[in-house]
Amino acid sequence: MIGKKVLITGASGMLGSNLLSLLGYKNLIGCSNDFDITSLEIVTAKLNQEKPEIIIHAAAYTDVEACEADMDKAYKVNTIGTQNLVNYCIDKDLLFIYISSTGIYGERKNVAYTEFDIVKPTTVHHKSKYEGEKVVQNHLNKYLILRTSWLYGGKITHNKNFVYKRFLEAKSKNIIYADSSQIGNPTYVVDFVTQIETLINNKQYGIFNCVNKAVSVTRYDYVKKIVELFDLKCRVAIAPDGMFSRTAPVSKNESAINYKLSLLDLNIMEDWEKSLDKYIQQLKSEKDG
Ligand SMILES: NC(=O)c1ccc[n+]([C@@H]2O[C@H](COP(=O)([O-])OP(=O)(O)OC[C@H]3O[C@@H](n4cnc5c(N)ncnc54)[C@H](OP(=O)(O)O)[C@@H]3O)[C@@H](O)[C@H]2O)c1
Repeated sequence: MIGKKVLITGASGMLGSNLLSLLGYKNLIGCSNDFDITSLEIVTAKLNQEKPEIIIHAAAYTDVEACEADMDKAYKVNTIGTQNLVNYCIDKDLLFIYISSTGIYGERKNVAYTEFDIVKPTTVHHKSKYEGEKVVQNHLNKYLILRTSWLYGGKITHNKNFVYKRFLEAKSKNIIYADSSQIGNPTYVVDFVTQIETLINNKQYGIFNCVNKAVSVTRYDYVKKIVELFDLKCRVAIAPDGMFSRTAPVSKNESAINYKLSLLDLNIMEDWEKSLDKYIQQLKSEKDG
């Protein structure tokens, strides 16, 4: 176990809760509801008190549809909230890790994005996340900006456990529907946390895509694989147009490759099917045991 003090924002969230349970650091501080990142006063007081050596900023307003309806909240949490944390870090020797999304690349290509592609987000959520990235880049030297996608894993009780939710749905129905119009990378949170540790240990800084390997994988492919790995009889069908209609103009292509990690020979992220299998086998053995 490494002795550095690590502060995690968004510790009750899907990623934050997994960071808290998986990171190999002795001194982890998880911040949730009482730590409102939109308040400069609260942020500064807490950080002055804790004096972390690493901050992993996983808090965000993540409801993409709700962000369209409440742009002010999206920018307040995702951009100003990030700025409040960054203000504390300026001129201090600490590492700031900002969790971002491959959704910020937008809709300019139909194959996977690399870190060298131009970023042109299409939704309010992704625009506000990208503005957060810019705040980090413009003010700090020791930072990691990690763009990830379609995260899954962790406890079955977490309300954002996509894999377990699909299991429950498929267990109780003969047919379920999934969207086939968007591609992305289902990404196992355990792999992501290991990749974060690898980057820290190798003293890397800058922007990195961090996703499991997946080529042209749709939600439909993903849900089909979940049902297959759980050995369920339920049929997975392609959702008819309009079934999962959204107000947010989400890009049809959120897929990425870990180009920079590969160039540096630091890419530890597995193939998506292999990691999904690992997680589902673990869930099955927990259920049986
Ligand atoms: N999950 C994915 O598939 C995915 C994909 C790409 C990128 N990401 C990025 O990964 C990070 C973590 O996402 P996630 O899936 O873990 O999201 P999540 O489950 O929605 O968790 C978000 C966390 O942020 C906290 N939060 C929201 N507003 C806050 C505020 N004003 N002050 C302090 N904390 C606040 C939430 O606390 P409350 O619960 O108390 O509101 C929650 O703990 C985010 O930056 C997200 O953009 C996620």
